[in-house]
Amino acid sequence: MYGLINKSLKSMVIDHHGQELWQQILSTSGVDLDSFVSMQRYDDQVTYALVGATSEVLKTPAEDCLEAFGVYWSTVVAPNAYGVLLDSTGTNLLEFLQHTNDLHDRITSTFIGYTPPHFEVSHEDNRVALHYESKRQGLTPFVIGVVKGLAQRFGSTIDIEPVQKVAVPEGESSIIYFTIN
Ligand code: HEM
Repeated sequence: MYGLINKSLKSMVIDHHGQELWQQILSTSGVDLDSFVSMQRYDDQVTYALVGATSEVLKTPAEDCLEAFGVYWSTVVAPNAYGVLLDSTGTNLLEFLQHTNDLHDRITSTFIGYTPPHFEVSHEDNRVALHYESKRQGLTPFVIGVVKGLAQRFGSTIDIEPVQKVAVPEGESSIIYFTIN
């Protein structure tokens, strides 16, 4: 995963819990780097190790850490670093999600060879089905966090239903149903 992701995870931990706790997480993770270059690719295991150690040190399920990271990503990291891109992706939650693939496509020349997820969006009135497909495993809670953060961005209140996992031979696929109020 690109260093930007690891760097942002580190920022979230330091913002929420301070530098000392980050050092504890880093040593628990076994990752022997304390700084990440945003535009450099790192093995996915680095990210998974950092999330695992965050969960262990904070005594919080990894799913909850990933969800918090998704919220942080869409409310802090992305608006600060990619504000123009976010502004041009959509003016409300549904429109934005319908263009998330375009957003990831537009940055393929920046994040060369990266492997972003794929989304399909359908809706009936205010009830939305967000179908997430990834080559990786375990990141659905991150998506839920991003959606919650985007709802805050657009001033929408959402009710998320329990996630439906779709069986796939590799990676992960899930459908997140939610209602926009
Ligand atoms: C300006 C906004 C965004 C930027 C710059 C961005 C960029 C990235 C980058 C660099 C990665 C790492 C992939 C890799 O290194 O192979 C990534 C992954 C990911 N992005 Fe985005 N993204 C943005 C917005 C979003 C939004 C709005 C969503 C969800 C609705 C999203 C969902 C994800 C997920 C779930 C992953 C993890 C990879 C996976 O599922 O396999 N991103 N993104």
